[in-house]
Amino acid sequence: MPTSQASQASAQALAEVAAGLDADHASISPKFLYDELGSHLFEAICELDEYYPTRTEAAIFRRHAADIAHAIGAGSTMIDLGAGNCAKAASLFPLLHPAQYVPIDISADFLEDAVESLRQRFPYIEMSALPLDFSAGLDLPATVSEQKRLFFYPGSSIGNFTPAQAHDLLARMRGQCGADGGILIGMDLVKDAGVLNAAYDDAVGVTSAFNLNVLRHLNRLVGTDFDVRQWRHVAFYNPTESRVEMHLEAIEDTTVSWPGGRRSFMHGERIHTENSYKYRKDAAVALLAQAGFRTTDVWTDDDEWFAVLYARAEGTG
Ligand code: TRP
Repeated sequence: MPTSQASQASAQALAEVAAGLDADHASISPKFLYDELGSHLFEAICELDEYYPTRTEAAIFRRHAADIAHAIGAGSTMIDLGAGNCAKAASLFPLLHPAQYVPIDISADFLEDAVESLRQRFPYIEMSALPLDFSAGLDLPATVSEQKRLFFYPGSSIGNFTPAQAHDLLARMRGQCGADGGILIGMDLVKDAGVLNAAYDDAVGVTSAFNLNVLRHLNRLVGTDFDVRQWRHVAFYNPTESRVEMHLEAIEDTTVSWPGGRRSFMHGERIHTENSYKYRKDAAVALLAQAGFRTTDVWTDDDEWFAVLYARAEGTG
């Protein structure tokens, strides 16, 4: 990136961070959790005993493979949102036999490398990587076939949006997927608060490290001077909002400065970093229906901790 563009991007990040820290209820955007160390720590979270979503979703795909493949059918244009290293989608290629694969992610370099190695393994699937931030808009270029578009949105990432934002994003997917298209999505379900609290505050402290790392990232990125040792990770299930909330809490009175501003935090004051909404099965289906999808198949694990849903644009007829 040329210097002027790079400094414009960081000026924008600084303005966004300053606005969040200055607000009555301070917050930091969850996108800043994922610098290089943050991405590694999130991978480690997915290995934890307490963090059930990743392995429960994978088990649902294994156990219901035949039904899922039958419901969706072969030959789709598989559009992978937030693809990262493309591993989840690739593990489904032998099941879903897509004709075209379109991984979308903000991180362009990462994506191109991942797709290059996938092309060798699956030469019969046409692949084109799309480096873009789909939360800003979802207009797909003409290179993406309009045949049987299947949006793939695993991992319960939809839960990181408010229900209103989730509705808008799903409605935009519906608008892009044509009459023969659909969406294959993973959604985390409401469950015992003890299970949820442990999943977002594990015994080893990986989740705590992941959340605290955002402060270290901001110090480097925009020049804040957070003393990471003055903060602690707090995560809890809020049943009224049906969401797990992640915060950072000051363990003593402290002041944070950044280029152009500063703020004091009292002992116990919090910065909100992320929400993870949990849905009841019927509310998950209703959310898809309200976004304009017609029929939805739902698969879960025996405990009903997690759901994989396939929603079609039109009825099965
Ligand atoms: N998408 C993940 C989730 O909601 C993000 C996540 C997991 C997370 N653990 C976290 C975000 C801890 C902040 C802090 O399950």
